[in-house]
Amino acid sequence: MLKHRSGYMPPAYLVIAAHLDISIFDDQTLVTTRLELTKNPDAGTGANEMRLNGRDLELKRLSIDNIEIAKDDWPLDDAGIHLTNLPESCVVESLSVCHPETNTALEGLYLSGGMYCTQCEPEGFRRIGFYPDRPDVMTIFTVRIEADIAYPQLLSNGNLVETGAASEGRHFAVWHDPHPKPSYLFACVVGDLECAEDNFITASGRDVALHIYVEKGNVGLTGHAMDSLKRSMKWDEDRFGLEYDLDLFQIVAVSHFNMGAMENKGLNIFNSKFVLADTNTATDTDLHRVESIVAHEYFHNWTGNRVTCRDWFQLTLKEGLTVYRDQCFSADTHDEGVQRADDVSLLRAAQFPEDRSPTAHPIRPESYREINNFYTATVYEKGAEVIRMMAAFLGRDGFRKGMDLYFKRHDGSAVTCDDFVAALADSNDIDLSGFARWYEQAGTPHLSVKRVAGGKATITLDFEQTLPETAAKTPRNAVPIPVRLGFLDAAGHPVATSLTPDGVSADEHVVLMQTATHRQSFHAASGGGDVALTPSLLRNFSAPVVLADDLSTAERLHLMAHDTDRFNRWDAAQTLAADAIVAAATGGNSLDADAAALSGAYRNILGEADLLDAFKASMFALPGVSVLESRLKPADPVALYHARMRLQAALGDGLADIIATYLKDDARHALQASDGGRALLNALLMLGVAASSAQAEDIAAAQVLDANMTLSQGAVMALNNSTSTARDVGLSAFHDRWLDNPLVMEKWFQMESMSVVGGTVARLKTLMQHPSFDPNNPNKLRAVLGAFMSGNPVHFYAEDGSGFAFIADCLIDIDSRNPQISARMVLPLTRMSAYDDRRKAQMMAALRQIDNAKPSNDLAEIVEKTLAAN
Ligand code: ARG
Ligand code: ZN
Repeated sequence: MLKHRSGYMPPAYLVIAAHLDISIFDDQTLVTTRLELTKNPDAGTGANEMRLNGRDLELKRLSIDNIEIAKDDWPLDDAGIHLTNLPESCVVESLSVCHPETNTALEGLYLSGGMYCTQCEPEGFRRIGFYPDRPDVMTIFTVRIEADIAYPQLLSNGNLVETGAASEGRHFAVWHDPHPKPSYLFACVVGDLECAEDNFITASGRDVALHIYVEKGNVGLTGHAMDSLKRSMKWDEDRFGLEYDLDLFQIVAVSHFNMGAMENKGLNIFNSKFVLADTNTATDTDLHRVESIVAHEYFHNWTGNRVTCRDWFQLTLKEGLTVYRDQCFSADTHDEGVQRADDVSLLRAAQFPEDRSPTAHPIRPESYREINNFYTATVYEKGAEVIRMMAAFLGRDGFRKGMDLYFKRHDGSAVTCDDFVAALADSNDIDLSGFARWYEQAGTPHLSVKRVAGGKATITLDFEQTLPETAAKTPRNAVPIPVRLGFLDAAGHPVATSLTPDGVSADEHVVLMQTATHRQSFHAASGGGDVALTPSLLRNFSAPVVLADDLSTAERLHLMAHDTDRFNRWDAAQTLAADAIVAAATGGNSLDADAAALSGAYRNILGEADLLDAFKASMFALPGVSVLESRLKPADPVALYHARMRLQAALGDGLADIIATYLKDDARHALQASDGGRALLNALLMLGVAASSAQAEDIAAAQVLDANMTLSQGAVMALNNSTSTARDVGLSAFHDRWLDNPLVMEKWFQMESMSVVGGTVARLKTLMQHPSFDPNNPNKLRAVLGAFMSGNPVHFYAEDGSGFAFIADCLIDIDSRNPQISARMVLPLTRMSAYDDRRKAQMMAALRQIDNAKPSNDLAEIVEKTLAAN
């Protein structure tokens, strides 16, 4: 059934307090929900009825105001209990049974590696007990958990108020959470765990105990997560004046988890991959990711928990905002320019393709069948871009004023995206209604900026925006597009310009485009003179659009070398590389001229003493196939992959002498000492091996067993597509070394699956029989099948369609156990609009095969949308 955003109805009853009783046994779990209900004064004159959702639950008892209802009179239907003719206020109590021990969907209460844990967002609570499972029903929870004493930890949200012995070898704990919350933020964990403890003193002097629970033996791997947590708590105080609001903050790491992590109030639950990390087992990139996810979940305490979503259409209210906040935290903690390049890479690789696909949707969707399918790059990453545009428009202080008003108005309630935009607008006395349009329109706007022939010291730009039609068929009105820009002279220096002939000059301007077309002149302050101005457009990626400009290759090289905006230096390199790859993939171009020009540019960059190694490394990251595809119609992902590899080899050749210098012992050891240096070393090693340098191959082969995981994995990755025996030797050495470490083995699976040499369909089938593979563990599925689809275009998009057929078989199998994962992993099969008819037909056949197998609601929504659109 399709739900529509316009169909929102407030709940007829509020829950004044909720008492849960959860009693875990090996073969079943008993759950009592005792709810104090009272009529919602804001619900109008609706009937006195109330829905308690329940899914796969067995009801045992039901009472209203302590009066037992006979089994024959239970008002049960497919969605749960439908109570009618309720008194104005009453207490409803239900007792039901659920089965965590057989729950493979990893939603609700389930077993993960011997511990019980929960995942309730968005609608998992209804698999635990009968409850009005919607985010606008917020209440105070008191929770009693009981289990065998073999499970010492009985954890839930809030404060621990009582513990004690229960009958025959059992014990209990009672938790009280003073902050009202919706059911999706409930959590409980029962297990035999080890705990890392620390504390944080908040700005107002509250001493908060910090606990990170992990499986036994792993407590030594929690230091980075703990440190990240403390720095996040401090940052939110400094930047937004937001303090933590309980005496205890807990994180639990679980091995089986559908997503990255979950912000349950006071009890965050994490995929263990994003907690357990040190420099021997995790790369610098992994450590960075751990830090940003810890921060993200912590930041949700205010943007998500204290103020939550009225309904799930508003998901970006908390997710877009919290991603924006974690991006700001990372930028402040590391390097702003590298962070922006990373964020935009992700947006282009994951969100732009979504906008071109059958599952396109606005950041605030208009309809859905299964809300789990909307935890997307659009809601998260594009949502963050929309917040970023408004934040830039208001300025740092203006945005802070808006956030302050948002919390002042809405603390403790469940609100909409409109409420958020209104708080930003009202606090700054400014009209943001144009930006609100970004919430209702799907699609990536195309922005064309072209120079109009004109006088010497005046440059005139014509701006034009077009919004492509998407599968979501939402309106396509012009949106406000802030275009940050500046100009460079022939020597690469910034040239101040003014917007009117005698206006104030500045090195940089923000042109806020409000209509479909716009013309703007810029007057160089130097006046007259024979200045050749190179425009630097959309600096810092000031809007999430596809930019088409009229810059020449020479001008892009000029920006790559000299722009004051580091994002645009990076982006100039991206465009130059993409141009070269696309030309080589389509024209049989030998790449020589393009590679020579790029090598020269890279050579200068390597020589720039003031530039961070981390930034230099990010300049070497060539755009991926999912980004390159957007340039062609039809696109051949296999040809693009090979052309990309050829460019890598050509750059390795063109820079051979300088790479050799960097790889010499002393220089190499110097690079190995810092994270930026390691990133740069790995980038150069990759180019060296691509160019078949014997020195690079030898160093990579030796570096495979380095104690530092960044160096080790960098070496394996450099060798991974090489046909030399060094590849196989390196991968098996890595395998043998980490066989006992399930998390590091995920890296091995991933590298095997991504290898054009090793990652064939036949090989993937073998990998899935490996003792370290677990078909019920989403990380393992992502490491083998996810990595294959996103990182192995040659075999996934194989001519004969074998890659698609293999994935379809796997998805049907996965779907019978875990619909969230199958519905997520099917997405690459739906991204067919760019391909030729043969590939399209093969992908459609794979989807029809899935559709015929009677997929889950989750998977059916995606598959049927795609079949209908093609
Ligand atoms: N709110 C979580 C986060 O952004 C993600 C939970 C998503 N869960 C899901 N079942 N889709 O950190
Ligand atoms: Zn989130």
